[in-house]
Amino acid sequence: MSNVRKRYRVRRSGPLHGSVQVPGDKSIGHRSLIFGALGRGVSHITGLSEGLDNASTRQAFGSMGIGIQSAGGRTAVHGLGLRGLRMPGDLIDCGNSGTTMRLLAGLLCGQRFGTRMIGDESLTRRPMGRVIKPLRARGAQIAGTAGTKPGELYPPISIAPLLEGERLQGIEYAMPIASAQVKSALLLSGLYAAGPTAIEEPVLSRDHTERMMLALGVPVQTAGASVILDPNLEWSGGWEPFDWHVPGDPSSAAFPLLAAVMVPGSQVSVRDVCVNPTRTGLLDWLRLLGANLSRRPSGHGAGDEPIAEITTAHGAIRGSLAGGELLVRMIDEVPAVCALAAVCKGHTEIRDAAELRVKESDRIAAMAQVLGAFGVPCEELHDGLIIKGGAALHGARIESRGDHLIAMAAVLLGLLAEGESLIEGAEAVDTSFPGFVALMRSLGAEIVEETL
Ligand code: S3P
Repeated sequence: MSNVRKRYRVRRSGPLHGSVQVPGDKSIGHRSLIFGALGRGVSHITGLSEGLDNASTRQAFGSMGIGIQSAGGRTAVHGLGLRGLRMPGDLIDCGNSGTTMRLLAGLLCGQRFGTRMIGDESLTRRPMGRVIKPLRARGAQIAGTAGTKPGELYPPISIAPLLEGERLQGIEYAMPIASAQVKSALLLSGLYAAGPTAIEEPVLSRDHTERMMLALGVPVQTAGASVILDPNLEWSGGWEPFDWHVPGDPSSAAFPLLAAVMVPGSQVSVRDVCVNPTRTGLLDWLRLLGANLSRRPSGHGAGDEPIAEITTAHGAIRGSLAGGELLVRMIDEVPAVCALAAVCKGHTEIRDAAELRVKESDRIAAMAQVLGAFGVPCEELHDGLIIKGGAALHGARIESRGDHLIAMAAVLLGLLAEGESLIEGAEAVDTSFPGFVALMRSLGAEIVEETL
């Protein structure tokens, strides 16, 4: 994250109206860069986010000899094939991006050169044992760093080269928790393995990696929450360059869409949103709550990702329970959902969300504190929250804890609160949603960004 500190001033706002587009999906952006860098020639990507997280992946590949240029909304990635990456001259700095570090861990342990990855203060506190341990089990020479929790591993991560004649082994892995980052790390390492990579998740997490591999002809088969990559099946051992569009990020679209549901008299459309079913938990849940919501399909993007225009409008909604597989499909939308719960009739209960405690911040503790500060009654549970809707909100002073989603969720509450709200640490929003303030202002939100 940059050293510039930013603060938002937010005021109660009148009806929000308009049609907007949000930055490209972060998860699809990271993966498009990865598959572009490993392709045999120049791939083109449109819609890639300018957020700092995707920039971390881009810089990492730049340091490994991949030419990447952007002009006029189009990014050219000069892929060098599966064996074309070069040893970086320095540490790979993943910034705030857990996806960069975990996916690259998988990719880099198949290389014949060594690497060391570091991250910012927040990333350095995030658990890495979940990728390091299964990668080691297939022969990777990878090490993390001891930290707060005994037995857990944290960044920095060091990876030693595979020696001449050494290969990663096949693996059968039943994942203890659903995680697209862990699954993707294993699949990427599987491109370099001597045997098959067979993974089973308790619930299917976002499947962008599998979709892209299928689109590129990699010998991958999926069934429900299982995936197998068998490099010994007939394939050319690589892929040709591609031309892909990254659709808008549903996790970013959640903010204007929920603002419209929350602020009386509003109606907002977001164009070009990724509606891959592994990402539409929030939209499905909104229907259950009785929200005004419509969706118009508008084509397909990178790796056959379905895209749609989503429209929401204000209306009365009731609280409900969100947990189980629905929760996995809306994991990054939970902070925004907590804000929405403040206007739901009755109680909203979020369960099965213990993973939120190890994201960019402890999002359960953070949202309990944010809701309390605005005057919303809530109870913190070990794996979620119970939130009571309908209270009158008052302005609050919030610290983002370096977490983009906490800052933006606080903005949603600020739009309804009596008096002014101050959101400190708002620079975190630049990791995923550059242009957030301008977009919300274009809809009529009373929000001002101050650079300190
Ligand atoms: C991501 C997967 C999710 C999500 C994260 C991005 C990805 O984490 O929360 O923001 O791009 O693979 P998990 O690995 O815990 O599923």
